[in-house]
Amino acid sequence: MQGGRRVFSGIQPSGRSHLGTYLGALKNWVSVQDDYDCFFCIVDLHALTTPQDPKVLRANVREMAALYVAVGLDPERSIIFRQSRVSEHTELGWLLNCVARVGELSRMTQFKDKAQKGGADSASVGLYDYPVLQAADVLLYNAHLVPVGEDQRQHLELMRTLARRFNGLYGETFVVPEPMILDVGARVMALDDPTSKMSKSAPTPAGYVELLDEPDVIRRKIRRAKTDSGSEVVASPEKPAITNLLNIYAGLTGLSVSEIETRYEGKRYGDFKKDLGEVVVETLAPIRGRALELLDDPRELDDLLESGAERARKVAHATLRDAWTRMGLD
Ligand code: AMP
Ligand code: TRP
Repeated sequence: MQGGRRVFSGIQPSGRSHLGTYLGALKNWVSVQDDYDCFFCIVDLHALTTPQDPKVLRANVREMAALYVAVGLDPERSIIFRQSRVSEHTELGWLLNCVARVGELSRMTQFKDKAQKGGADSASVGLYDYPVLQAADVLLYNAHLVPVGEDQRQHLELMRTLARRFNGLYGETFVVPEPMILDVGARVMALDDPTSKMSKSAPTPAGYVELLDEPDVIRRKIRRAKTDSGSEVVASPEKPAITNLLNIYAGLTGLSVSEIETRYEGKRYGDFKKDLGEVVVETLAPIRGRALELLDDPRELDDLLESGAERARKVAHATLRDAWTRMGLD
């Protein structure tokens, strides 16, 4: 790290990571790690906002750490750590709670969607407060850039509002971060239902390709992915399923959608899906291999996270002290 511009992002260790997580987040994290000082967090406190089995959570944290490294994040260059191990996150979260407004949090669509599913009255207070902790995550490191998928846009906007409001009330303290949301891959849709987002809480695994799926499972899921009526491999609003598959192809190969359309002129959905299956396997098989290798040595993963937390704490603590002083808590 050379003391340059910073990046912060995080993923919850709840459920399985999938192609959406990869294209919307992980792949872009790898692409920025040479140009920024990066903080990549496993946001275990955020995972607690919905019920978690402690045993499963523990395993998921390690799996996430293995995936971070397996996709190509370098723990020497980038700081990889878990949120709960740097207590400054919850401390700054409280300070920001006192700056955030009930009206703002009530407008968060992710809260409204998630709360609706289980009944709004029984949603946890943590779920409601989730975006404030997320703001603390980023503001603690004065990160300039936050690479995420499209579903995080509203949370990022709130984070910017809180940073500006705090700065206005107490003097320049926080960098106002910018979202990094790319055109391709920011919103990968479910394979079995192109009108809903690919999500780890989907009712059936047919909707998503897990990053740790075996190659044959991947091929089968892509082969069975829903397609639209007609037979031409072209993206259009009337063909949401094939459009989604084209976007995945584009995200993984770096080709543009129109280049891919040209390549598949006169061919059928089946040909295209067969090739897409191979493209996905080519990307994910090495990631799976490395992740499984790393998971063989859990102690090393724990050490990696612990030394990441130590490095993160130093930066976080300085920012927290600054916020204390500004607010008169010194
Ligand atoms: P989560 O797994 O919900 O913690 O999300 C981790 C990251 O992946 C966030 O930056 C999300 O915006 C991104 N993400 C999750 N699902 C998708 C999806 N279907 N398409 C694109 N990005 C996604
Ligand atoms: N809310 C994000 C998600 O569900 C995860 C997250 C927590 C995050 N803190 C963050 C993302 C800070 C970016 C920056 O995907």
